Amino acid sequence: MSSAIDVVLGEGRVLRVIGPARIDVISGTILAVGSKFTSGASIVVHKYRSYGIKALSEVKLRVTLGEGSKIEEVKEGEVVDDWLKASEQVLHICRRSPCKVLIAGPPDSGKSTFAAFVANYLREAGMKVCVVEGDIGQEDVLVPTTIALAEVSKPILWLRELEALKFRFVGCTSPQYCYSESIQAIKELVDEAVKMGFNVIVVNTDGWVNTTLALEHKLSIVRWVRPDVIVTTSSELYSYFLRCLGKFAKIINIPKPTVVRERSKEERRELRVAAYRRYLSKGKPRKVKLDSIGIIGACSLCGEPLTKDDVKNLLKVPENVLEKVVYSSRFGDTVFLVVKEPVELSASSSGLEKVFTIVARDMVGSIVAILGSDMREVGIGVILSVDIESRELTILTPWDGEIRGLIVGKVRLTEEFEEMGKVIRCTL
Ligand SMILES: Nc1ncnc2c1ncn2[C@@H]1O[C@H](COP(=O)(O)OP(=O)(O)OP(=O)(O)O)[C@@H](O)[C@H]1O
Ligand SMILES: [Mg+2]
Repeated sequence: MSSAIDVVLGEGRVLRVIGPARIDVISGTILAVGSKFTSGASIVVHKYRSYGIKALSEVKLRVTLGEGSKIEEVKEGEVVDDWLKASEQVLHICRRSPCKVLIAGPPDSGKSTFAAFVANYLREAGMKVCVVEGDIGQEDVLVPTTIALAEVSKPILWLRELEALKFRFVGCTSPQYCYSESIQAIKELVDEAVKMGFNVIVVNTDGWVNTTLALEHKLSIVRWVRPDVIVTTSSELYSYFLRCLGKFAKIINIPKPTVVRERSKEERRELRVAAYRRYLSKGKPRKVKLDSIGIIGACSLCGEPLTKDDVKNLLKVPENVLEKVVYSSRFGDTVFLVVKEPVELSASSSGLEKVFTIVARDMVGSIVAILGSDMREVGIGVILSVDIESRELTILTPWDGEIRGLIVGKVRLTEEFEEMGKVIRCTL
């Protein structure tokens, strides 16, 4: 059930809207996520989002409220004015020459919303603006496991409204497990954005900031991106960055919104599923011959193939285990066994240092990047089936061009595009 109510808001007042809701501007002008909306315009607040909407003049709004939504006039603790001031400072710096703005802060502190806010604000001031969405876990532009670059060519409330122009595959959803790839991916996309002539490149980062290692990761991103401005959403992080980086960049701290539509773990998972589904449900199954492509991240497929006799001679495995082996290979002191079903191998059964077993069915669901010429990512896919004996894979992907290669990621998805636990080792 939804109900519509009319709200009159005096100039300068702020309305907090917790979604799902739709707001039609009947008269006057509002500022929502750094963009102006005047009479006749409408905005939709997603069920997992909330915003502070500021009246730039006296406004009349028709608010349609969905289930669980709420509106309230904010008396104090609203952040819009601070965010406007920060955006004004960024604009001042970026007017002089093209600039890079990096946003860092803990989870749920408003990073993504401020990325949209400052991007909208600078776009409306006449700049050519893009966003590099560098949060691989909550990636809003393409799918988790990737980092994407998108132009902000219209007002947005949420980075999910953007279309990726370019992307890089990182292959996992926590930067701890793909530390260097995540830094490299952000850096490459920022370099591409510079080449494409954007005046302002807004870089959003992941919310992993609570350990020394996490901060080192953020400092590495800063080192390679070399931002002109760093916006933090936590005063602790602000002080840290000011000490370490204050000589290199302008550091600005913005307050986090005091009341937000918080997302549970389950709701965050649902948002990730929605992102995978949005991209992959447009896909079609494509067959790929392993011997006709390059492959990265498939440890069992690139070693020297072994026959059953080789395996028998190298590893003193019992016959019942050998029967379950569908493919085997060797690199150095490691033998890779692809098996029909899990097997028990005692340490003493092997003359070699390492035996690495992969259950064939566990290959299914692995997320992959599709590479075109120059080893460039052209699409994302998910492995539907593996016929290891005939060395053929079937991949679900919307990419319909040439496939020159694959990068196998460390995330597996179910048929419903739900993530299946964490994968640390290679899956193929
Ligand atoms: N001014 C505001 N008033 C109320 N809620 C707000 C405001 N600005 C943003 N929010 C809400 O706060 C929540 C967190 O914001 P956002 O997603 O931008 O944070 P984040 O730091 O990017 O989080 P994540 O760690 O999930 O990436 C969202 O629900 C967002 O809609
Ligand atoms: Mg975010």
